[in-house]
Amino acid sequence: MSNENSKTPLYFIRVIMLVKGPGSPALCDRLEKSLDGNAVDVEHKIFPDGERYVHLKGDVSGEDCVLVHTTHPSENLLDLFFLQDAVFQGGASSLNIVVPYFSYGRQDQCFSDGEAISSRAIARRIEIEANSFYSIDLHSSKITDFFSIPATNLSAMSWLADHAELYDPDLFLSPDEGGIQRIKKAAEEVEIEWDYLVKERIDGETVKIEPKGIEVEGKTVVILDDIISTGGTMFEAAKQLAEQGADEVHVGCTHGIFVGDAFQRLKGVCDSIFCTDTIEGKGNEVTVAPLILESVFGIE
Ligand code: R5P
Repeated sequence: MSNENSKTPLYFIRVIMLVKGPGSPALCDRLEKSLDGNAVDVEHKIFPDGERYVHLKGDVSGEDCVLVHTTHPSENLLDLFFLQDAVFQGGASSLNIVVPYFSYGRQDQCFSDGEAISSRAIARRIEIEANSFYSIDLHSSKITDFFSIPATNLSAMSWLADHAELYDPDLFLSPDEGGIQRIKKAAEEVEIEWDYLVKERIDGETVKIEPKGIEVEGKTVVILDDIISTGGTMFEAAKQLAEQGADEVHVGCTHGIFVGDAFQRLKGVCDSIFCTDTIEGKGNEVTVAPLILESVFGIE
């Protein structure tokens, strides 16, 4: 059911109308440019009481549709569910969902009794009106198992690694053990050394990064993670590396949430910050459009 960077893109089945989710406007515009106009715009409104409204501005009847829509901030989840309803109501033949950043991925298990497994709850809602699901660098690849429809976890790590080459790096680092598979993939792409740091999370905003005896003096180091949220993880990691004599420290991630002043704060301790456009905003130096075109639409 689950796999990474699937070798069976949808175009193999029959192609394909892009539904331009309001959660990913710039990304959808980038995709549309390669799709010969096979795209449907979405009107999106928020009423004075905060309730949300979506309206497909084109005919999806009989079409195989791909809806691209990121689910951060949380309200975007509602838009996703409404759009799924609209596409089915419009008589589409199939609906394939691409959620570039799948929010709530970090709550993928019960950490204590009484908690919800939030990412599973969302998966269960999505699959009610969808034929397949794709996301990018899910926090945990096991999230694909929450779906009973085909679910694919794509990876933007190769694209981030290619971008990081600009800095002529000596070493790629994951800020924690959980990111080992991701950092390995990135490092293999550009044939560079890699390692990981040891992180202890104290609370939602505070982490402790242990020095791990990695030789960084005089080196250009790129730290890569799936998510930068409060920036606490990257802040501590970059500080540690600077203290250990790293020459340059660049930080990159797939999903740049950058809560509050996280971006500015991070800028103070590293040489550059970059992320993809799975969440549109600061630091979007890398686009995942080619990854989606290749893996979902079969266009290189
Ligand atoms: C956690 O395991 C993730 O991979 C990220 O390291 C984490 O979400 C980053 O959060 P923050 O920027 O708030 O430290």
